[in-house]
Amino acid sequence: MRSFEQRNAHFDRLVNAKGLRWLGQNTNHAPVHPAVAEAMQRCIAEEEFHIYGPPAGLEELREGIVADLGLPGLSALVSDGAVASLYHACHTLLAPGVEFITTDPTWNWPMAFARSVGATVKQIPIYGEEYGYRLAPERLAAAITPKTKVIYLVDPNNPLGTACTREEIAAIADIARKADAWLIHDCTYRHFAYDHTLAATLYPEKTITIYSFSKWLGLAGLRVGAIVAHPDLVERLAVAPPNNLGSSILSQRAAAAGIKVKAQWFPQVLELTRANQKLIKDAVDGIDNLKMPVFPSSGNFVVIETAGAGVSPEALVAEYQKHNIMIRQGAYHTPSFGDRFVKVSTSVPAEWVEEFVALLPDLVERARGNNEPVKLF
Ligand SMILES: Cc1ncc(COP(=O)(O)O)c(C=O)c1O
Repeated sequence: MRSFEQRNAHFDRLVNAKGLRWLGQNTNHAPVHPAVAEAMQRCIAEEEFHIYGPPAGLEELREGIVADLGLPGLSALVSDGAVASLYHACHTLLAPGVEFITTDPTWNWPMAFARSVGATVKQIPIYGEEYGYRLAPERLAAAITPKTKVIYLVDPNNPLGTACTREEIAAIADIARKADAWLIHDCTYRHFAYDHTLAATLYPEKTITIYSFSKWLGLAGLRVGAIVAHPDLVERLAVAPPNNLGSSILSQRAAAAGIKVKAQWFPQVLELTRANQKLIKDAVDGIDNLKMPVFPSSGNFVVIETAGAGVSPEALVAEYQKHNIMIRQGAYHTPSFGDRFVKVSTSVPAEWVEEFVALLPDLVERARGNNEPVKLF
């Protein structure tokens, strides 16, 4: 079977698995606010889906996104999820021979988009105590070359859960400006951060802020997100977007309703996420040589280092699969460091995490020393 068929069959099995506990994709499983459900029900009842949405997105939604970020003067282009925004930005801004710089680990798909248009990809390692699991701006500065066209910064970082400080963002924005490079600031997990600074406030002319509704609002399956950037760039991006007939009207209605109730709904989700993190931290601390290198995490996920305990991430993932629990092996994110860790999502029902932690000591024992190859994606 071809590899994409295998990968698809794998995810199709997961999607159709009854009662699977989704602790592997940073999705948000908190029950939706009634206003979001009503917005979708209205859209369906009125059969609004016969129409196309406006090409750049519903004005109400565009305004809501810009206001949520607090970036007046910048413009939003609604997309079919942050990944589509990243695809569109990479295809518009990159060309053969230019360079795209990001961290290792990072979120991988934008590297694939960059390579697919002929750009070269450079990664700066940030995994490990020696780096503090974060990007030191000096190391970014040292990696820049005259060919650097795009800096791709996932902040908070997926999978690490570290967020850049205000000082780091200021330095990174400065470096990008000096290099005249585009700064793609992927803020998919911003809402979960303890503190977060938007590079667009410091370098508005060439920062592209990537926004997602998959994580904070829990709409991953509805595919809605946005690019927020200077109106001149949005004008350019709007010339040939993949969704020039608009993004899903159902998804946009849900997202617009979600932004309106964010202040009353999201704080509880954040509280749940952080309480779940703590449960995992306590369980990890109770097992010899297992480690949570970043705590607290500024994402809705945590990294657990298994290498010190002699446990391969794949073996642990396979053990959890037997219990209908999905967690993610590090290799999904990085070939260089992927043998050291697994990633576990925390914006999920507390019972899922309780089950995860209750199984942890036993499954670590079972996985220890098991290096049999397991096909994972
Ligand atoms: C850093 C990062 N960017 C973008 C995405 C994709 O977001 P969306 O579901 O909005 O396409 C993800 C999904 O996990 C992600 O981790």
